[in-house]
Amino acid sequence: MTLRNRAVVAPMCQYSARHGVPNDWHLVHLGRFALGGFGLVMVEATGVSPEGRISYADTGIWNDAQRDAFARIAAFLKSQGTTPAIQIAHAGRKASTPVGWRGKFNETDAEKPAVAFEHWQPVGPSAIPHSSSPDFQVPVALDKKGIQKVVDDFAAAFKRADQAGFEVAEIHAAHGYLINQFLSTTSNQRTDEYGGSRENRMRLLLEIAEAVRPIWPASKPLWTRISVVDGKDGWTVEDSVALVPELKARGVDLIDCTTGGFDGTSVKPGAHYQVPMAAALRKAGLPTAAVGLIQDALDAEQVLQDGEADLIMLARGALEDPNWAEHAQHALTKSEEAYKLWPIQAAARIRDKDRVLKLRGFAEA
Ligand SMILES: Cc1cc2nc3c(=O)[nH]c(=O)nc-3n(C[C@H](O)[C@H](O)[C@H](O)COP(=O)(O)O)c2cc1C
Repeated sequence: MTLRNRAVVAPMCQYSARHGVPNDWHLVHLGRFALGGFGLVMVEATGVSPEGRISYADTGIWNDAQRDAFARIAAFLKSQGTTPAIQIAHAGRKASTPVGWRGKFNETDAEKPAVAFEHWQPVGPSAIPHSSSPDFQVPVALDKKGIQKVVDDFAAAFKRADQAGFEVAEIHAAHGYLINQFLSTTSNQRTDEYGGSRENRMRLLLEIAEAVRPIWPASKPLWTRISVVDGKDGWTVEDSVALVPELKARGVDLIDCTTGGFDGTSVKPGAHYQVPMAAALRKAGLPTAAVGLIQDALDAEQVLQDGEADLIMLARGALEDPNWAEHAQHALTKSEEAYKLWPIQAAARIRDKDRVLKLRGFAEA
């Protein structure tokens, strides 16, 4: 698959859906990044099941109504030259938590029906809560049947994602959500074949990859987002390096490299702080995406030129500047070609403005 460039919008929960169905907010939020020239735009963590949502306001892809609503969004992204992608997720013990931008359960009784409020019992690998905060419940430890349902739900979600027209889909195995909870010893204290040794803790993720790969067309890349370290030594870079060939063997095409997601973790953020992890996993044998406080276009280009990652992902930088990819293109090339990344409705007009004001390539003329 060829993307129009290597600038990617990272998945970003909007907590703005009702019953898991994406709406005009999602179309415009994601659509502006397509107009902004990004090569690929990834839809937020989208639940494989109602109980797999982080909050009641997450998007979901467990029914046809959700699939059909996503089809409109995927088609629009594609019509603008952007590759439509989706992150498929299960929150595990971090499910049924407050809407991110609310910070707590402060919905009034009058508001609850309007926002389709729900609160439910989360599941996890072991009956250990994410933190002592009352926002997090003690999960019910999944039994074998429950684990099989999770695998089946991922497979069904990937089928619907394909039908909706997404061209890339990502298994969300990061940020302390269900699959990550199985990977890390801090949350997984099972004594069956899904707990204990690293091989056992990887089992759920590998079973999910095995289940989705035959359903997700061979022509469509399958990505996996992992927390390369959990920040608590329950899952380390060494573990991630060992995971790469296992994922590769099961047809995963790219690792999206992030960190953390566990209570009280210690990975210190700073510019490009996760790039070294993307570089380490790239050496382990799969293409990688780097994410985390990447802002400057020239620095981003350097990451690619240095072979540290194959794709550059932005979340907050894209929120701040939805036209980041177009601005990056101008920063990287003074050629007239750079204007071609703007939507046709805008390109010539922006060029005219730059010519009159002697900006960009016209500054030297
Ligand atoms: C508003 C918002 C929502 C996010 N939602 C998700 C998500 O749905 N799935 C995910 O894996 N990461 C999510 N993240 C993390 C981002 O994808 C990204 O990894 C992180 O913000 C670091 O990149 P940045 O420094 O460019 O923002 C979210 C981040 C933000 C700011």
